[in-house]
Amino acid sequence: MKGIVLAGGAGTRLWPATRALSKQLLPVYDKPMIYYPISTLMSGGIREMLIITTPRDLCLFQDLLGDGAAWGVSFEYAVQDQPRGIADAFRVGEKFVSAERTALVLGDNLFLGQGLAGRIRAATASVEHATVFAYRVSDPQRYGVIEFDDSGAAVSIEEKPIAPKSDWAVTGLYIYRSDVVDIVAGLQPSERNELEITAVNQVYLDRSQLQVERLGRGVAWLDAGTHDSLLEAADLVQAVEHRQGVKLACPEEMALAWGWIDLEQVARLGRNMGGSTYAQYLSKIARTGGTPLELL
Ligand code: TTP
Repeated sequence: MKGIVLAGGAGTRLWPATRALSKQLLPVYDKPMIYYPISTLMSGGIREMLIITTPRDLCLFQDLLGDGAAWGVSFEYAVQDQPRGIADAFRVGEKFVSAERTALVLGDNLFLGQGLAGRIRAATASVEHATVFAYRVSDPQRYGVIEFDDSGAAVSIEEKPIAPKSDWAVTGLYIYRSDVVDIVAGLQPSERNELEITAVNQVYLDRSQLQVERLGRGVAWLDAGTHDSLLEAADLVQAVEHRQGVKLACPEEMALAWGWIDLEQVARLGRNMGGSTYAQYLSKIARTGGTPLELL
């Protein structure tokens, strides 16, 4: 199983903060935003990742993340020269996907809470279906919206509907079969001139191959694409981290739990992290062993 982190886009809703810098490099409290979606993929056991970014920001992501060896994973990079839509990730990443099932996560999406990792792992094991995750929101008009029948099966999906048929939004984590590349190749750009991910999901729904997993209250799904949502996400992360004395979305701890790196490597990474609380946390888990996988 491979993973794509889509970290391009224009980020206009965060201007001027993102006029000269990728949104996904901004901090969400104590770490760059992209750590969160990367940790989400890692929690599902995904080690091979493609980071898609803009020509302008590519070298910054490479500086930050390197080839992934420090975390026992592999990062490749690809450039999307224009924001052509979320589904465009599978055109840009066609070679990377090859014959593999692939998870796509949006670079500004945070999934916090226990239990999601197990559901990602279960979804990655299914060869029959594409899986998307739905989350109840107060403002469904902003998202792809899923309607369910009485048995809980998905019956329709609409992009940014004026009159939403439910409160269930499609989140920015998608697990697809390798045929997603062919589906995207057959798509036409929408009225707003984007390759729409909802159109991909519609194809799977029409073929009865779309599994929609509803996320309950144990999971918080946030996107950090506006000034308010960025601050709210940071506040939430800070509150949980202070209360529990842990760090959320810490890729080093995730890699340790999977056995991809050892305690010595975590200690080394901590020593290279300056005088930050993040450095102190890495040193602490290098001493104590960190959190077991089932509690991450
Ligand atoms: P959006 O938040 O929909 O778009 P954006 O980041 O360009 O922001 P704005 O609306 O403020 O201009 O994108 C969701 C995520 O997907 C975000 O992480 C950026 C990424 N993305 C791309 O990388 N390429 C694209 O073509 C699009 C549409 C989004």
